[in-house]
Amino acid sequence: MRTEVARVSGFPAAALKSTQTIVGDLGFDSIMITDLFGGVSRAFPGLVVEPNWFSPNRTLGEVIEHVTASRAPGSRRTVTAVPEPEQTVAPEFRIAEFPEVQALAARLTSAEGLGVTNPYFLVNDGVTRDTSTIGGAEVVNFSSYNYLGMSGHPAVVSAVQDAVARYGSSCSASRLLSGEKPVHRELEAELAGLLGTEDAIALVSGHATNVTVIGHLLGEGDLIIHDSLAHDSILQGCALSGATRRPFPHNDHVALDALLTAIRSQYRRVLIVIEGVYSQDGDIPDLPAMIAVKKKHQALMMVDEAHSIGVLGATGGGIGEHFDVDRDDVELWSGTMSKALAGCGGYVAGSAELIRFLKYTAPGFVYSVGMTPMNAAASLAAIRQMRAEPEALDRLRRNSRLFLQLATDAGIDTGDSKDTPVIPCIVGDSLRTLALSNALLRRGINVNPILYPAVPEDLARLRFFVTSCHTEDQIRSTVAALADELATLVAAA
Ligand SMILES: Cc1ncc(COP(=O)(O)O)c(C=O)c1O
Repeated sequence: MRTEVARVSGFPAAALKSTQTIVGDLGFDSIMITDLFGGVSRAFPGLVVEPNWFSPNRTLGEVIEHVTASRAPGSRRTVTAVPEPEQTVAPEFRIAEFPEVQALAARLTSAEGLGVTNPYFLVNDGVTRDTSTIGGAEVVNFSSYNYLGMSGHPAVVSAVQDAVARYGSSCSASRLLSGEKPVHRELEAELAGLLGTEDAIALVSGHATNVTVIGHLLGEGDLIIHDSLAHDSILQGCALSGATRRPFPHNDHVALDALLTAIRSQYRRVLIVIEGVYSQDGDIPDLPAMIAVKKKHQALMMVDEAHSIGVLGATGGGIGEHFDVDRDDVELWSGTMSKALAGCGGYVAGSAELIRFLKYTAPGFVYSVGMTPMNAAASLAAIRQMRAEPEALDRLRRNSRLFLQLATDAGIDTGDSKDTPVIPCIVGDSLRTLALSNALLRRGINVNPILYPAVPEDLARLRFFVTSCHTEDQIRSTVAALADELATLVAAA
């Protein structure tokens, strides 16, 4: 018991006194108390501590006595001693002196010295779609994932205006308490309809959706096995969960199967996490093959559809529609509202039980304000508009095919991109990639460089997001300018 209190509190076990109160003297908050009793019941299987028994003025001595009296007869714990601190640690208390803060400052300064312009935090005025306005000048834009042009679409703008007039600009409470608005329910019903699931939940951030949902459903003793190109939000969710994390080689279901064959038996829950469209490479997984592996190993599956919802599938229903899989074969269809769906926030679609559980317990939902009514209205209107205007999806596909065809004809390395609007131009060197993006911007074309450490140095690239709004002319002249600037770079090398 002392060991557990030491683990959670950080105090050395030898310094703990039986007369100290858990809350007042040892500073436990509710999360630490839950952690403490979780640890104690793992140590003594069968031990049950009634939640009502504990009160803030309980002392360590009382807790030890109670746990000793309540544990199952004969149950013993294996004591792991908490090592006493051996040395004092040099304190760091000035943020400007943190090594990582200084490393960033040095990187930014050295980039300035190399004669390239910082490509980050460019101010984009106006609606960002096929064009954008930077520094007062209109540029052709390939840097935003407004895939269907729904952000700025008149039907979406008008829905947002109506929502703010009706509900104000905030729901001013967690939805669990008093923040629930009709527009949240309508959006979730629309998402569930689009994805063919029983229900859906909408949260305030796409990134935070993965963090909180993965962090909440998995824990110690579980395994999360994810594609090696997984988005940061998935990795953060893994870290939060405390589960073991293992990447598998990109899109390789055979390697996934082999890994699970070797290690599945050590874990209680196993979650396989893949994405619908990979956002740096523009390729898609073989979903039916992944599902077959998942079923074979009694695993759960989460598919992050950030870049595939409103992009893949005959009606924009994502990768599940693209491959026509049984929707019940994937437990968690997650995604974000910020791309094709013209809003801001994340969602998870799945069974009614899953969604009810998340709505009552997922920390990033319960302890966070409800999605703003305007954002919910924007994505709701975007889904409805996508249904009313299927030509937008046709244009997106036509434009994506045209860009890829022209780029490959021009000998540009587009990696594994196929059938998606995410098309990289792999340059293989961060500095040259930066120079290329600067050169294109001077010619009125805005495309973001993706540099190390976001991708390995030899895969540094420009990443083009094609949208349904681009004209054939814009695409042809951009690929021509890109080929031209690449040739200049090669000649100068
Ligand atoms: C695969 C993936 N998941 C999650 C997110 C996070 O979504 P948001 O930017 O809406 O927070 C992104 C964003 O780029 C993403 O690409």
